Amino acid sequence: MASPVELTVYPDDCDAYGHMNQASFLSFFERARWELLAQGPGMDLFQRHRVWPAVRKATVEFLQQVFPGDRLRFEIEVVHWGETSFTLRQRARKVGGGDVAEAELVFVTLGQNGRPVPIPAGVGDLFGARLARRTGASQQFVVRGLATTAELVGDGPPVLFVHGFPLDRTMWRPVASALTGWRRILPDLRGLGLSEGPDDGYAMAEYADDLAALLDVLRIPNAVVCGLSMGGYVAFELLRRHPNRVRALVLANTRAAPDDADGRTKRDATIARIRRDGLGFLADEMLPRLLGSDTMQTSPDVVRQVRGMMTAQPALGLIGALTAMRDRPDARPMLGAIRVPTLVLHGSDDQLIPLTEARAMADAIPGAHFAAIPAAGHLAPLEQAVNTGRVIREFLEALL
Ligand code: MLT
Repeated sequence: MASPVELTVYPDDCDAYGHMNQASFLSFFERARWELLAQGPGMDLFQRHRVWPAVRKATVEFLQQVFPGDRLRFEIEVVHWGETSFTLRQRARKVGGGDVAEAELVFVTLGQNGRPVPIPAGVGDLFGARLARRTGASQQFVVRGLATTAELVGDGPPVLFVHGFPLDRTMWRPVASALTGWRRILPDLRGLGLSEGPDDGYAMAEYADDLAALLDVLRIPNAVVCGLSMGGYVAFELLRRHPNRVRALVLANTRAAPDDADGRTKRDATIARIRRDGLGFLADEMLPRLLGSDTMQTSPDVVRQVRGMMTAQPALGLIGALTAMRDRPDARPMLGAIRVPTLVLHGSDDQLIPLTEARAMADAIPGAHFAAIPAAGHLAPLEQAVNTGRVIREFLEALL
């Protein structure tokens, strides 16, 4: 499909304040989608496949006023492709100006009887091909002797995304897909996702050395390192062991303090339980604590995606990660010595790591920015991808 689409704002799109009315934005986003279909596969794409894409959820962020005569450029990308639903992100930019609005829309494909049906292959091929190009196929690299999977997306200054527990690289996709203009690297840590894991040898230092070695393989001298929770523990270790590989830091829903005695006992109990019972209990017990209550109630797609990711992880890699987290060093003494630009962001509804702890961590890092993400729990980049992506993009743009 051709992209981007440009549309002009007319006086009848505007309200008494003279600026474009918020409701008109939804119409413009819809017009831009139709225009894309018209330019590409045809407006009757869905009818041809006897399905109808119904919007189940629409989130819009308004970033800047627009006025009659302004010309808006619309970009669109696929951020999730499921069995019967898909999620599109649309961005509107003022031609010659900045971003004016971002929307995320979840669509369900309905059949003739009005019930959800699988997305027809013909539609999937079209959007799927686009998704593959946009997100980059995952690739395998041999890193320190282990077959390591990473997704490489786009060109520009590098950003390395480090996932949390018990997750994999795909948790960063919704945010990474919005950061056009950056070379995004999304690896699976050893033993998790599709990366090979050794029988033992799991420690924050090993994860950090793996990532430094991956940057070597990719011939990247340094990168912005963006870690969520356990990914943040790895980021601290990368900074400690390979300081010149870290250009800037994004610490998302993470903490600097190590496990206390009680925390270590709980890690051991979880390890023993995985060995005894398998992984089944993890998703049931962790999901309501990982995700904010808003997400649990209103975002079944995110709940399903996180559950799917949690249940797909190999037991060995999970046990390794639990061991590494249990034994991780205290990063608090290094906070005052951090000299790279740092953004601390945190879900305001995080039940695992209190917001106040993240704010105190930001206060201890010289010059660090702090952003609370409303209506998000421990997985802000998945729960509030648009808002989190915008906060990260603003931080990245200030580095240029
Ligand atoms: C994570 O999200 O990576 C974990 O919850 C972190 C932890 O258990 O300390």
